[in-house]
Amino acid sequence: MVSLRVKLLGLTFENPLILASGIDDKTPEQWIRAHEEGAGGVVTKSIGVEPREGYDNPTIVELPYGLINAMGLPNPGWKGFLKMVEGYTFDFPLIVSIFGGSGEEFAFLAEKLSDVADAFELNLSCPHAKGYGMEIGQKPENVYEIVRAVKEATDRPVIAKLTPNTDDITRLGLAAERAGADAVSAINTLKAVAIDVYARRPILSNRVGGYSGPGVKPVALRAVYDLARTLEIPVIGIGGITTWRDAVEFLLAGASALQIGTAVSLRGWGVFREISTGIEAYLESEGFSSVEEIVGLALG
Ligand code: FUM
Repeated sequence: MVSLRVKLLGLTFENPLILASGIDDKTPEQWIRAHEEGAGGVVTKSIGVEPREGYDNPTIVELPYGLINAMGLPNPGWKGFLKMVEGYTFDFPLIVSIFGGSGEEFAFLAEKLSDVADAFELNLSCPHAKGYGMEIGQKPENVYEIVRAVKEATDRPVIAKLTPNTDDITRLGLAAERAGADAVSAINTLKAVAIDVYARRPILSNRVGGYSGPGVKPVALRAVYDLARTLEIPVIGIGGITTWRDAVEFLLAGASALQIGTAVSLRGWGVFREISTGIEAYLESEGFSSVEEIVGLALG
């Protein structure tokens, strides 16, 4: 009998697949749907201090090997978020993604949302929002200060979501670990652009966006591999996971759990069940009895 269950951050996930913060995770209905379709947990769309409309359309471009998105961190703000989740209970770990422009803002959000979050993921990595995300998260000293501030503000586990738009992602991971992060997640999207050859201008209203999907998978896998070799804390793998084979590669590279976002947008909610069934069959045919047994086997 094979077990897909994963214990991480003091939480139990039915399986290692988590809905990533991104495009399909704005509402409680979407989080519940993800779980019904086989996700072991959910990360919400990033929540900030004030409501934001996000950028004008177009906000997403589909490419042969993924998507470029620049949604502009649309969210209802922390007050709107609390209103939105009123009356719901979730029978799966709910990880609330938060973003801010300073340690104080992140800490404020963590304090306000601690009652509804099982854990927090800090968005230190959105590649195109002025004053947020990667603009601050590319500097290890900022990562340290923000994680520290959040750890002081909440007793919920804290995950630092790191940017791949840097020369050495392990420096960011080490800063998060030193500041007391309970885990890191990697990667957020790669900064990218797509051009309309007839309009002769970038397609997205924001011009630049973040590239995700199968095209970024090898880059994400390398980041996870480097982080897992360097850090003591768990690494959550994100980036182009579309098939069970991708998922197993990330687990072998040292990811303790996996987030899936773009595959849901491109292939539908069924990807969770398809991938977890594939992982289960792989474990069984290779003689393993749990997901945890294969985490990091390729690191040696
Ligand atoms: O545009 C967005 O809302 C993207 C956020 C992110 O990449 O973290």
